[in-house]
Amino acid sequence: MSQKTKEQWEYGDFQTPSDLTKQAISVLVKLRIQPCSVLEPTCGKGSFLLSAAQAFSSAHELIGVDINEQYLNDLKTRVAEIDKKKRIYIILGDFFTLDWQEILAALPEPILIVGNPPWVTSAELGLLKSKNLPQKSNFHVRRGYDAITGKSNFDISEWMLLKHFEWLRERRGTIAMLCKTAVARKLLAHSWKNDIPISLAHIYIIDAQKYFGASVDACFFVVTLLGGADSKNCSVYKTLTDGQASYTIGYHDGLVLSNVEKYEKYKHLKGIDYSYKWRSGIKHDCAKVMELEPDSQQYRNGFGERITIENDYLYPMLKSSDIGNGDVRFGRKYMIVTQRFVGEDTNIIKRTAPKTWLYLENHDEALSKRASAIYRNRPKFSIFGVGRYSFSPWKVVISGFYKRLAFKVVGLYEGKPIVMDDTVYFLPCWSEAEARLIAHILNSQPAIDFFESIIFWADKRPITIEILKQLDLRALSAELGRKTDYLRFAWQRHDRESEETEGQLSLGIAEKKPLNIKGKQRITNRSRRTLQKAAAPLNFHVIS
Ligand SMILES: C[S@@+](CC[C@H](N)C(=O)[O-])C[C@H]1O[C@@H](n2cnc3c(N)ncnc32)[C@H](O)[C@@H]1O
Repeated sequence: MSQKTKEQWEYGDFQTPSDLTKQAISVLVKLRIQPCSVLEPTCGKGSFLLSAAQAFSSAHELIGVDINEQYLNDLKTRVAEIDKKKRIYIILGDFFTLDWQEILAALPEPILIVGNPPWVTSAELGLLKSKNLPQKSNFHVRRGYDAITGKSNFDISEWMLLKHFEWLRERRGTIAMLCKTAVARKLLAHSWKNDIPISLAHIYIIDAQKYFGASVDACFFVVTLLGGADSKNCSVYKTLTDGQASYTIGYHDGLVLSNVEKYEKYKHLKGIDYSYKWRSGIKHDCAKVMELEPDSQQYRNGFGERITIENDYLYPMLKSSDIGNGDVRFGRKYMIVTQRFVGEDTNIIKRTAPKTWLYLENHDEALSKRASAIYRNRPKFSIFGVGRYSFSPWKVVISGFYKRLAFKVVGLYEGKPIVMDDTVYFLPCWSEAEARLIAHILNSQPAIDFFESIIFWADKRPITIEILKQLDLRALSAELGRKTDYLRFAWQRHDRESEETEGQLSLGIAEKKPLNIKGKQRITNRSRRTLQKAAAPLNFHVIS
């Protein structure tokens, strides 16, 4: 569909061509799905319904529902021609207000819920000022809603599919829907995590460009509930006609896996590394003021103003775009780092760097406007995600914005530690040798394969701290025959790490104050025990 009308957009209207519905339904036949009833909740012109009617002689009833009266009138004409046994019923209705329980109660099991829900997001509907949305009131209180739909923007199909899953909570049946692959995966993850029994789950990738002129990752998603068996795996087929699955996604060891086969090979690398903790860069939410570009002898800010300030609080910085593509681009920008740890009193800047203070005061309006609640009731010009680790001389860095597993080493620049912005993740290192070792093992094939078994590349930001922290560097170093080197550095960094304040957890809220003595001791003892165990074969002494 190249030129969509406003109405087609609002109703996520992409009618499925019958060659695709025929192929999809024949997949269900091959899977031996034999429904006694078929329901297509947003049937449009009804090509799924008609293909199902042709393929499933076992079905006593087939019901199609849509909000578009014109489509249904056309469909009725076609149905009248072929429905000799009077099995097909067409209902004009709104998905969001229809009494589905009444319809479902009349359907014999197993039920097949099939079709292609609207392709539109809540944000698009907001732009169109459309009311084609679930009612907000009962929407927010739904259990699992947040887990499924995330925050403010979500796919309408996701919400509808969640409903389909609810309908089959206590009924035997199969859901078979065309949808975004990410939506299918989210629903599976939700069901697996909540122990909703799934006996069969298959994803067949489809070419959305070819069939709908849409450049999205889409699939035919087939899932059978209450079928007896309970599996946490889903086979992924590259096309609707592939006889063999290409890989399996699944849920094991508390992780949603993008490739179960790869994970099985490297799952021994999963674990907590107590010596190395991933950090994200500094968060300031005001790039125009806090990030400066060098401009002959001065700097220039995001408003285009030329600035002269002291060097004391200025640090060379890297953003995702400086490290995500090929070589690292050094010296492009500098950041004003107003604190050494979260919550530090910033008044000292007045005395130690008066020009910097004046510059910040002059831009107080922009800084005070920062929307996030984390800046409220904090010292003036506060930043987050800052701690001793921010100033480590060496770092192993990776971009959180780019879809590339490439770990880079960065050292000092102009004699100063390089700081990262909050789109970059890094491991602080205290020597070049340490950083080179860590980058070397992280860029190794076992590490890449391990990460690739848990990364979903189709996600907007596939690389996250949650993903990175799943890999135990100690286990990885052992796998690569570098455990002795690893332990040497792990041991040296131990005291540095235990003194550090917490990272940018929970958007910096965790960084309110440095660890109290009790907390500090607990971490120290735990790390010490881990190190004691690790150092034993090497005859290291852990001094208490
Ligand atoms: C992606 S099209 C798919 C149509 C059909 N299932 C097919 O596969 O060809 C989505 C359909 O959802 C219908 N629709 C959109 N919002 C709806 C609502 N609130 N209630 C019922 N149907 C709706 C549209 O009219 C459209 O026919």
